[in-house]
Amino acid sequence: MSKIIVIGSSNTDLIATMKRFPMAGETLQGRSFLQAMGGKGGNQAMSAHKLGGDVQFISCLGTDENGRNTLTYYTREQLDVSKVLLVENAASGTAMIWVDDNGENSIVINPGANMMLSPEYVCGLETEIANAAMVVVQLEIPYETVQKICGIAVKNKTKILLNAAPAGKIDRETLKRVDYLVVNETEAEIISGVSLETFGQEEVLDKLLAMGAKAVILTLGEKGCLFKTRQTMLYSPAFVVDAKDTTAAGDVFCGALAVELCRETDWETALTFASAASALCVTRIGAQPSIPTEEEVRDFLRKKGRPNDL
Ligand code: RIB
Ligand code: NA
Repeated sequence: MSKIIVIGSSNTDLIATMKRFPMAGETLQGRSFLQAMGGKGGNQAMSAHKLGGDVQFISCLGTDENGRNTLTYYTREQLDVSKVLLVENAASGTAMIWVDDNGENSIVINPGANMMLSPEYVCGLETEIANAAMVVVQLEIPYETVQKICGIAVKNKTKILLNAAPAGKIDRETLKRVDYLVVNETEAEIISGVSLETFGQEEVLDKLLAMGAKAVILTLGEKGCLFKTRQTMLYSPAFVVDAKDTTAAGDVFCGALAVELCRETDWETALTFASAASALCVTRIGAQPSIPTEEEVRDFLRKKGRPNDL
């Protein structure tokens, strides 16, 4: 298995479940509380790791209790965190997550040390990036670091999967370097500047391709996902499941997709695998506690066959 290097955020998620979200000034009683590992970078790295990838995770943590617990946790899970940057006295990233009875979530992130993952630091990782088949990045670290990572990856012919989440603008120079751009509807509209409602999915995907991405994967939640390159377009439906918490559904999708692409599976199979992994994730509470193993995904696929509406 070729190496995948995930570079991104690591958070300690503080998750409260509740009947409904409180209004401003209102105090509500929650249903449950869970503290668990999260952060888009960590979630994608753990997903790729649990789904059979050979993964190295690069992130920045403080030396506080959350940072130390995170390192211990990943080490115990046998995820390669040997090159994680530790900053003395910095606060590690946290995320406050609310989940209501409909499985909707609201998240407030306190990035802390995640914003200290500097371009200079990733410059020192050129050998690691060069030796990997693919680098996976998101937008919860400084944008200049994302740009630097893409530059190093292109120079060393390492494929780039960019999950442009949370939503933010991407400059064309960077977009041109991206092999696989994974976006949800909001992210697609923000980057392309094209409204999905007015122009439709194909137009938005074409705009992203015209801006330089080599392949775009538009995730549509329970409606599945669309994959488009200049030559082909493919629709992959989602599996119908009882959604408890959609937190990290996109992260699990990205991690799974990265693994499948490194296995050189065809796009249809890769997207189905990623959708299955993501479907399993939404049936469970929390980000990393909800990541399925490869075996669970294969089992699920055997039972479900193809997505329900194929
Ligand atoms: O994508 C889900 C993640 O977003 C959570 O784990 C939270 O930490 C935020 O980064
Ligand atoms: Na989940």
